Amino acid sequence: AQAEKAGYKHFMLKEIFEQPRSIADTISGNMSWLKGDGKLEGVDPKSFDRIQIIACGTSYHAGLIGKFYIENLTRIQVEVDYASEYRYRNPIVNEKTLVIAITQSGETADTLAAMKLAKEKGAKTLAICNVIGSTITREADTTIYTYAGPEISVASTKAFTTQLTALFILALYLGKERKTLSSEKLEAYFKLLMEVPSKMEEFLNTERKEEIVKKIALEFYKASDALYLGRYVNYPIALEGALKLKEISYIHAEGYPAGEMKHGPIALIDETMPVIVVATKSKVYEKVLSNVEEVKARKGRVVSIVNKGDKAVKQLSEFSIEVPEVNEFLSPIINVVPLQLFAYYIADFLGYDVDQPRNLAKSVTVE
Ligand code: G6P
Repeated sequence: AQAEKAGYKHFMLKEIFEQPRSIADTISGNMSWLKGDGKLEGVDPKSFDRIQIIACGTSYHAGLIGKFYIENLTRIQVEVDYASEYRYRNPIVNEKTLVIAITQSGETADTLAAMKLAKEKGAKTLAICNVIGSTITREADTTIYTYAGPEISVASTKAFTTQLTALFILALYLGKERKTLSSEKLEAYFKLLMEVPSKMEEFLNTERKEEIVKKIALEFYKASDALYLGRYVNYPIALEGALKLKEISYIHAEGYPAGEMKHGPIALIDETMPVIVVATKSKVYEKVLSNVEEVKARKGRVVSIVNKGDKAVKQLSEFSIEVPEVNEFLSPIINVVPLQLFAYYIADFLGYDVDQPRNLAKSVTVE
């Protein structure tokens, strides 16, 4: 097993560092149907007027970001649901619905059952999956594979960022086929997507970065709670950052849309509360900045994820982690990486079994 970790202490760390490669593989693995004459077999891109995304855990967070991609690039209405909720809420679903099931393993019981229900009601079904030949891929009308390679760590990392990559590619494809996206725009977005692996590499390969994240982790590993904030496409990254911390360090963490903080979580903020804020460049940057000011006014301990050259948010932060700037739609793919590392180092400092956290399973095949 030590050899399989390729010199890394844990699979999770290895898998975090594999992400640039996994994303590049996911782009090239899906290029034929996006760019070539190929089509996504099995689902006619014009045969539906509504999309429902169903998933569990980290895959659900990918779905929340997928909604931004698809709605913005295609103007098709998208709902996102936990599979375990969807299957019991008598969803409105018919032949004009495309149901997208996102699942790393392809074996999650709730996701399989939710998709089966949708299929019975006539929906078209598409799986986004990492495991070739898994149950979901046999049941869906079509599958988009992520090429993350085997993910061993229970806490998902590279599966997540490749799911985002696949969702972005799907949104570009639907935009092309439904003519909501010009070929120039598609090219421009595709170029930006192609830059993501090297931008992520740039972040991961700077020695100092690891040092900085470790230093912050050392500062907070004894915390009993943490609040994660983000907005817009990075709101789900706040959710995912909090989930990572919960899963492997057993520290209670909550992800929240920063603008909603005033309706509750702000009451929790005092001089001991770590508040991790995703504040990279986007159209809501100024809004996030004023949320950070609100945290600061209550003496919260701000840790921010910012772009290089940031001044305003950095000034208000006790610690900042700088990440390379990318297009705002693609920024979640980069921004999640420091949060994965932060959770990893905290769990490691606490001496926990990072790859096998208590009470959790890699794939939940029972209800
Ligand atoms: C479990 C894993 C999570 C994963 C979730 C969904 O809870 O511990 O890491 O996100 O299942 O798994 P799936 O294979 O359907 O993506």
